Amino acid sequence: MESFNDFQSLGNYELLAIGVGVILLGYAFTVLRKPISKVPGPSYTKFTDVYLKYIDMSGRRPEYVHALHEKYGPVVRISPGHVSVMDPAATQQMYSVKKEFRKSTWYQDFVPGPSSVFSTVDVDYHRRHRRLLASEISESGLVIHRPVVDSKVRLFTERIAEEMEERGVSDIYRWALYMATDVIGELSFGSSFRMLETKEENQYIIDLKSVSFAGGLRATFPTLMKVTKYIPIPVLSLGMAVRGRLFEYGAQSLERHRKLVEEQGDDAKPTLLSKLYRAREKGDETLPFTELRMDAMSYITAGSDTTTNTLTYLIWRVCKNPDVKAKLVAELQTLPADFGDQDLKGLPYLDMVIQETLRLHSAVPSGLPRVVPAEGATLCGHFIPGGYTVSAQAYSMHKNPAVYPDPTKYDPSRWEKPTKAMKDSFVPFGGGSRICIGLHLAKMELRLATARFFTRFPNSTVSTLDGFTDKDMEPWSFFLMSPKNNRCLINAH
Ligand code: HEM
Ligand SMILES: *[C@@H]1O[C@H](CO)[C@@H](O)[C@H](O)[C@H]1NC(C)=O
Repeated sequence: MESFNDFQSLGNYELLAIGVGVILLGYAFTVLRKPISKVPGPSYTKFTDVYLKYIDMSGRRPEYVHALHEKYGPVVRISPGHVSVMDPAATQQMYSVKKEFRKSTWYQDFVPGPSSVFSTVDVDYHRRHRRLLASEISESGLVIHRPVVDSKVRLFTERIAEEMEERGVSDIYRWALYMATDVIGELSFGSSFRMLETKEENQYIIDLKSVSFAGGLRATFPTLMKVTKYIPIPVLSLGMAVRGRLFEYGAQSLERHRKLVEEQGDDAKPTLLSKLYRAREKGDETLPFTELRMDAMSYITAGSDTTTNTLTYLIWRVCKNPDVKAKLVAELQTLPADFGDQDLKGLPYLDMVIQETLRLHSAVPSGLPRVVPAEGATLCGHFIPGGYTVSAQAYSMHKNPAVYPDPTKYDPSRWEKPTKAMKDSFVPFGGGSRICIGLHLAKMELRLATARFFTRFPNSTVSTLDGFTDKDMEPWSFFLMSPKNNRCLINAH
């Protein structure tokens, strides 16, 4: 009897194995016939994105995708539904203002909840927001906000000098973070987080530090994140809690300032949004407060880490390169003693130092996912059907040796006479209609902070105190990039 049972169950297993085998073969056959299977790339990426998810969680996606480009060329399949591109012409095609490739729904997993100008995938919703938000944050619109930015920048150098005195070294990452967060807080909410004043790491900043990691988690495991509403998974619930707290805080500050604007009218301190609060009274087009609130949130999260990390890498790179530092300091010495932002735009070397930092240390290094339009698209000679996701990552675009010779070298002078390919490949702020809306603000902060820092501390060097080494500055990316250990110790002299 026993052996009969064994035989029976063995037979079942065999049947099962054959069944599974047939299904797998059928699956493999359909997968392999898809056009995307003909795109170069590792063969496992035809079947699964599990490895890519694993890479995402380890914070090394840009490096991984770049290695694939080095091996397979300018077009690489990175998952069964996603192709990465490293080519100036194809990038211009994907991120263009006309005939644009829509943002993929990845953004809604990255920032769940009501849409903002950053997260929306709806072309009309985006256009409406962008049109109304744009003038206040444009180059000319920002002129009235210069004093706020400059006052935070001055406090930034003040705090660095103080820490030098007390500790013999200064962690410029910390002060850059406080500066960028205070600037965008005050310009969005009407009240700054006052971190430069209190010198304190409040709950808000702790949350903000984890927000890009939390965002990465959400985007990598969207389904799992929905489950955490019902079943707590500690590390994932944290992501949700962080978002909830950031939202509460933002909503309160914004409401306070809106009341103030309504009471005081034009006397109230202007923010990047305050004109839109009052537009309705004046009969002008505006946006509902609930929608503006989401935009303010996106300003805070998109405008703090990015600027912080760019400024940190800039100061670190310049301090490591005596020749660059000497040239920059010499140029800054030509400034009048009471210089302001209006004097800085005319400084070519300062501009090149900023460009080169944005190139080599892009704060948003990963691919910006877009959906191929229904009719499909040919990118670098490869046909990609409609509905597939494509992206170009700044990390690779900026390290393409065919465009930027000796790409890993930090060399601001390469921007003296940029070629067309260099300009077309330069995408630190993305491109097309979804290009960074805050880029003029970011550049103003970078100009002022760099100029004030190196005017006050022209002899700065990188510190070795507390075991600080170049290893601390290795990047770690969850869509946004930051130095691995969130510190950068500089001898500011
Ligand atoms: C060096 C600093 C910055 C860098 C490198 C940077 C980079 C980027 C990039 C690459 C995008 C495109 C994202 C995508 O297509 O997925 C973007 C969009 C955006 N950025 Fe920035 N950013 C910086 C500073 C700022 C600042 C200061 C603000 C503050 C307002 C800001 C607000 C935004 C918003 C709202 C969007 C979405 C725009 C849209 O979809 O229309 N960014 N940024
Ligand atoms: C920087 O070094 C130069 C040359 O050694 C010196 O003259 C100058 O006073 C130093 N500047 C500061 C701010 O320490």
